[in-house]
Amino acid sequence: MELDSSFDIPPSSIPYYRVAEFASKLRVIIEKDYAAMSRRAAGIIAKEMKSRPNAVLGLATGSTPLGVYQELIRMHETENLDFSGIRTFNLDEYYRLRPDHPESYHSFMSKNLFEKINVKPENVSIPDGMATDIGLFCENYEKRIKDAGGIDIQLLGIGRDGHIGFNEPGSSLGSRTRLKTLTEETIRDNARFFDNEGEVPHFAVTMGVGTILGAKKLLMLASGSNKARAVRDAIEGPVSAQVTASVLQLHPNVFVVLDEEAASMLSRSAYYVYVERMAEKFEAEAGT
Ligand code: PGA
Repeated sequence: MELDSSFDIPPSSIPYYRVAEFASKLRVIIEKDYAAMSRRAAGIIAKEMKSRPNAVLGLATGSTPLGVYQELIRMHETENLDFSGIRTFNLDEYYRLRPDHPESYHSFMSKNLFEKINVKPENVSIPDGMATDIGLFCENYEKRIKDAGGIDIQLLGIGRDGHIGFNEPGSSLGSRTRLKTLTEETIRDNARFFDNEGEVPHFAVTMGVGTILGAKKLLMLASGSNKARAVRDAIEGPVSAQVTASVLQLHPNVFVVLDEEAASMLSRSAYYVYVERMAEKFEAEAGT
């Protein structure tokens, strides 16, 4: 990505107090491709886990976080990244899809992460789309998150319609875990995982936008040009229930990690790259 030369880092050193600026921020990090995006995001999660061995991780499903999970597994296998004290809460699960269905998010998480790391099964929570009383289940899910001390870092993908979790356009920005009706676009997008569209669930149990905003840090990922418009609307558009990812602008501690294609419609990319270089410089100097 070409940078305006006026964005070069000034040679004079900037006082350390400015480091504080980077502690409370919406950081937009643009990496070259999917692999680099995944490594960067995994590094952010691993840093959290090392500073807090019993951290509470909010996890996501979909194609986007797969590379992050592969990198975390690699770090577990080769660098002893330890999940033994880690607790996890997943964002969502399809309604009335059995947990042992190959496309359930229970199956996804087992296959792509949990079976390959040393997380304790009793520390893992995924919404139960089979619960008889969904309302009660959702209330308890919120309570469990609260009892765990809240989510330290919540991983998020973004839908083409700008959703986070399954909070489709029009979701209340204060919503909590609940049953949600999926949009036709989301059903179509998810159809690629099922044998035919008729099989794709039309409902899901999802953390609400308010639940997500309650996490201490948010880490949203996006890859590919088909996400570029949603990313632009979320980061540079108005905060709106029509693009639920836009609430990231209201949260004090957000990392958005993108590949270049997903960042391609942002109008201020050069500035984000510059800010990121400055943040890295300050962090290196401060030894954080
Ligand atoms: P994807 O889904 O990672 O499969 O693109 C993202 C989402 O819908 O949140």
